[in-house]
Amino acid sequence: MFVTFEGCEGVGKSTQVRLVREYLERTGQAAVYVREPGSTKISEQIRDVIANPENTEMSDITEAMLFAASRAQLVREVIRPALERGELVICDRYIDSSVAYQGYARGMGVEKIKQINAPAIDGLLPDVTIFLDLRPSESWRTLKNSDRMEQESADFHDRVYEGYIAEIATSNGRIVPIKPDFDKKVTCERILEALREKGAIK
Ligand code: TYD
Repeated sequence: MFVTFEGCEGVGKSTQVRLVREYLERTGQAAVYVREPGSTKISEQIRDVIANPENTEMSDITEAMLFAASRAQLVREVIRPALERGELVICDRYIDSSVAYQGYARGMGVEKIKQINAPAIDGLLPDVTIFLDLRPSESWRTLKNSDRMEQESADFHDRVYEGYIAEIATSNGRIVPIKPDFDKKVTCERILEALREKGAIK
């Protein structure tokens, strides 16, 4: 099974991925953990180019293609081989991030982003996507503003959120919205319940 996590910045996504991982390790359920962009040597090099705040001149299409290139490498080097071995793969962000950030927030359009990503994912969509459903302006964290994406405006990040909400409606139940609770353990329980229901974990 292929599970991905999605959400806006500062909603506690990385914490939840870690808590789910701790639960799976505690209960003896093996999985492969990756994050986007990154998780292969080449994808990490691409990540550095994307995140570098000095790259102010980066065009939208370049950015979208760099995310897709990082994804293409990760799918071929790690995700697909692990799935073929019958392993559970948990990925922090995947194509829905490109749809929300580049498609909606950057205004490039969903169709264009899906076209760019088609050869990258080569038909591989997640079996289940956990979406941490919190509007960035309602999140209780403040951004570090340390990388190029985090430096975007509050409006940009709200458009990311709207993009995710629009995608949920057309995902045929693949994207499961989960309301984060102030108590991160409660949030984690909600996620585990959703993953059990989908048969991804025990
Ligand atoms: P990261 O530090 O991993 O952020 P987070 O902890 O929020 O996941 O940086 C990834 C950044 O790249 C984040 O701002 C989301 C953005 N992004 C896209 O714009 N498009 C994409 O396809 C992906 C995978 C990420």
